[in-house]
Amino acid sequence: MSKKTIAQVAPATFKGKRTLVRVDFNVLQHEDLSIADDSRIRAALPTIELLRGAGARVILVSHLGRPKGGPSDKLSLRPVSTRLSQLLATEVTQLGDCVGNAVGSFVSEMKDGEVCLLENVRFHAEEEKNDPEFARQLAANADIYVNDAFGTAHRAHASTAGVTKYLQPALAGLLMDKELKALSGVLDNPARPFATVIGGAKVSTKIGVLENLICLADVLVIGGAMAFSFLKAQGKQTGKSLVEDDRLDLCKGLLAKAAEKGVRIILPQDVVCAPEMRSGLPTSCVSVDAIPEHEMGLDLGPKTVEEIKQALSSCRTILWNGPLGAFETKGFETATYALVDLLVSLSAAGVKTVVGGGDSVAAIEARNISPEKFTHVSTGGGASLEFLEGLELPGVACLEPAESVGSAV
Ligand code: 3PG
Repeated sequence: MSKKTIAQVAPATFKGKRTLVRVDFNVLQHEDLSIADDSRIRAALPTIELLRGAGARVILVSHLGRPKGGPSDKLSLRPVSTRLSQLLATEVTQLGDCVGNAVGSFVSEMKDGEVCLLENVRFHAEEEKNDPEFARQLAANADIYVNDAFGTAHRAHASTAGVTKYLQPALAGLLMDKELKALSGVLDNPARPFATVIGGAKVSTKIGVLENLICLADVLVIGGAMAFSFLKAQGKQTGKSLVEDDRLDLCKGLLAKAAEKGVRIILPQDVVCAPEMRSGLPTSCVSVDAIPEHEMGLDLGPKTVEEIKQALSSCRTILWNGPLGAFETKGFETATYALVDLLVSLSAAGVKTVVGGGDSVAAIEARNISPEKFTHVSTGGGASLEFLEGLELPGVACLEPAESVGSAV
């Protein structure tokens, strides 16, 4: 069900209103805590700008990392507020906590269009427990709630879900809306042929996605280390390759389901092997029927890459989740980078290309390609995975429906 967005209500709704905006500023940082990747901060800018323009008093709330045992300087959001101030070209005040009297007094003095960032909401253990009293305290300093944190929408936490019991209206931000539209557009009514490319290390983390997409896709490419579990399930010798022996029956079941539904499955036909996952070792490219006993497959070979290119080139929608090889290790990035390049050129030719977050985004960054070269690159890792599994995300479920009658706005 689509959700009511901040763009669908009259701008006057926000004028002078303390607007609590859940964002996902869980960003990658360097050792010195400077921001290594500000894409999640940039992705929230349209929502912040719209609210500022409408005269809202913008109170941003986010987590950073997984702090255990209370506040720590290392996981403070201070570097984020500094970066955000630069991006917005206005001062963003960093507060020392996310609830309590000091926050309340600051917020009550805010001017229209002003922005502040609350301190890491996970410094309070109650956040992840979705504690009702903590949710009430978060809500106490605001009049309106906006969730723009798609990346955290799979968590039923106080700031993503619980708070909506105490603070209405609860609206979707522009990033949240964009993510939901892009991902559901692929699942609900993809232009066909529709191909899904699934990679990554483990079948176990992608079971739900595979089960859901096998019913929807016309072509399913299986790459990454998880392909070796499928190859072993087909009776092949996989040497030292990463295999989940307890998932072989599941792989057989998925292959049988694909055959029954007429889905074309592309598994590796050749792979690049090495004695271990380390760069600088001698590698060999072999058929999947000849993987050496003491070697592991770490990338797809050129014949498989060519088969993937041929198959994807006639598709009109392509969804990609998970690298095709161990791209982080030099020498095993070829297939993943070839896929990135292919998707860029197919996007330019009008094919809808959607990238489902996590490691695939890291591969795009490592290849030095702008996310704008694709139709959509999700800011969510776990969230996009759960969405693609067909699950309802708690942070989305609690937002106001687009067509609600008698709503507060
Ligand atoms: C993410 O980076 O995937 C989100 O920010 C959620 O973080 P979490 O896995 O720590 O809940």
